[in-house]
Amino acid sequence: LEEEHPELVSDESPTHAVGGAISTTFDPVEHAVPMMSLDNAMDEGELRAWGDRVLRGLDGAAPTWVCELKFDGLAMSIRYEDGHLVQAATRGDGKVGEDVTANVATIADVPHELSKPTGSDIPKVVEIRGEVYMRASAFERLNERAVAAGDKPFVNPRNSAAGSLRQKDPAKTAERELSFWAYQLGDVDGGPEFSSHADTLAWVGELGFPINEYVRRFGTIDEVAAHCLYWQENRHTLDYEIDGVVIKVDDPVQRDLLGFTSRAPRWAIAYKFPPEERTTTLLDIQVSVGRTGRATPFAVLDPVFVGGSTVGMATLHNREQVAVKDVRPGDTVVVRKAGDVIPEVVGPAPGNRRPRGSAAWEFPDDCPSCGTK
Ligand code: IVH
Repeated sequence: LEEEHPELVSDESPTHAVGGAISTTFDPVEHAVPMMSLDNAMDEGELRAWGDRVLRGLDGAAPTWVCELKFDGLAMSIRYEDGHLVQAATRGDGKVGEDVTANVATIADVPHELSKPTGSDIPKVVEIRGEVYMRASAFERLNERAVAAGDKPFVNPRNSAAGSLRQKDPAKTAERELSFWAYQLGDVDGGPEFSSHADTLAWVGELGFPINEYVRRFGTIDEVAAHCLYWQENRHTLDYEIDGVVIKVDDPVQRDLLGFTSRAPRWAIAYKFPPEERTTTLLDIQVSVGRTGRATPFAVLDPVFVGGSTVGMATLHNREQVAVKDVRPGDTVVVRKAGDVIPEVVGPAPGNRRPRGSAAWEFPDDCPSCGTK
């Protein structure tokens, strides 16, 4: 894959692991309560359709909606017994994750001992679920250190957070300055009854966890939609990456009424931001040759920050795509990237002023790797 898509090669790649620095041997952990995923709403229409389904499921009773940012990190379940941190596990397939306790214990946001909340005791068992992430500022510091040490920079905060959690040596993880937002409870034995998600979050905050400051409650789906569009436009004002807004029904009784599908709750949805697009100059079109001999054209770009990382190369898929898109070196082109998805050249930018005399790109007749006809 890396040979065919050179733009995908990252420092986190197993092909770059030296001396087993990245471990593949984390013990499996069976989740006492499965870690479910979320259904997605890809645009405002899908969000409103979900809102209507919830209303129908509640026989027209209007719920209070809670909106949280959708943090672009890694889901984690952190288990406390009698107030002591005993285990941290990744989501894995939702049923079985990996034990990364030693690494998560190095995160400053994660308490080793819970604080006693006002009005309730520390429960016998409580699992705090949330997202491990890397702040943009920590990511920049990490990359400055990597470059100073002569190493290749990391691709984006999410990949560096994932790589940091998979270090065998927790001292390495500690250097990476990871952070954590709590947003959900897992297994609980002995906790208080909550009458809203907002109360739950306030209680989790009292236990000692950071709760994001942009949690908002709304009475109408119109307000929810406006909130989603606000964050779509303003996502880059934050010191951490978000890829959407998660909307949850606030009332636990209404949540029980709505229930779950096989993979996700019906009472929550992830409004996903559309892929980000930027314009830049197409410097060159080159061809990479994979192990199987397959030749893939790719774009060499004037590096541009899009979708959370700086992109200097982007796939052009195959010769037909280059012909259909008719992009030529010197063109101003639109580059698109959604999260970890492969960056691609969409086509010439509107208003592109093509250099005079540029010709349509032609696929080379000779193999660029070995010169064979
Ligand atoms: S709630 C049962 N809240 O999104 C619902 N998830 O696509 C459990 N995520 O695996 C998830 N921010 O890693 C929830 N504020 C948030 C979130 C959030 C990010 C991630 C989480 C989950 C994925 C689902």
